Amino acid sequence: MTTILDGKQLSQQIRAEVAASVKTMTSAGQKPPGLAVIIVGDNKASRVYVNSKKKACEEAGIYSREITLDGQTTQAGLLDEIRRLNQDPQIHGILLQLPLPSHLNESEALQTIDPRKDVDGFHPVNVGYLHLGVDTFVPCTPLGVMEMLKRYKVPIEGKTALVIGRSNIVGKPMAALLTKANATVTVAHSRTRDLPALISGADIIVAGLGKPEFVKGEWVKPGSVVIDVGINSVDDPASAKGYRLVGDVEFEPAAQRAGYITPVPGGVGPMTIAMLLANTLKAKEKLS
Ligand code: GUN
Repeated sequence: MTTILDGKQLSQQIRAEVAASVKTMTSAGQKPPGLAVIIVGDNKASRVYVNSKKKACEEAGIYSREITLDGQTTQAGLLDEIRRLNQDPQIHGILLQLPLPSHLNESEALQTIDPRKDVDGFHPVNVGYLHLGVDTFVPCTPLGVMEMLKRYKVPIEGKTALVIGRSNIVGKPMAALLTKANATVTVAHSRTRDLPALISGADIIVAGLGKPEFVKGEWVKPGSVVIDVGINSVDDPASAKGYRLVGDVEFEPAAQRAGYITPVPGGVGPMTIAMLLANTLKAKEKLS
């Protein structure tokens, strides 16, 4: 029987837990955790993500501040803004929404964030700690995947795991976390040869390659764990909106074979925001 890993329900539970901790904090006379989200320019997808992050903060009692910078902002202007937030006692977490307009240097901007406020876990100091196995801020999507596996008591130790995609936001940290949890990890990417064979041999698959329904059901090993990190919009004339969201995995046929599987939407996506709130709370606790 297949277990559907319900990220929607689980994320609501985690958000309620964060809200309860924030309430305890503020009832004791402390300031609430504060998150600053910087958005540069007018990327539509970024706007949607930032709005949901702000709404989630409000619901959890976390103070949130949006800093909207013009698409023409200079690198110096962006760095000044980050440095101001590093010094701001109301702000415990700083999130620079990516991607940035192409004239800006993303790496330098991320390195300017105080690592103690780096709730995205993108600063090289935190990336380094993660790879050393030291407790630190971990990027929210892979952290959400691990939390899901933990809460559904999915066994990881000794399993073979295949991470498809090697991005800094998902693939690389995912591989580090699964290794730490004692899985034997392979990282596949766009130049990997014979991906179907690798998929067929994996006990755990994390698909984050950004190609709609790329992973076919018949490639999936019976009883395996299928984690779909993809969110792709595909045309669908039958839907009222004219499109629908699908993951990187062909859901129905894969669900026939998998032991555990995440749906899209309602799987990994909602967990990402829940982990951002958890990281912001952690930042406040560490800075206090
Ligand atoms: N853009 C897409 N995903 C993310 C994320 O997790 N954090 C930030 N800062 N930007 C993103």
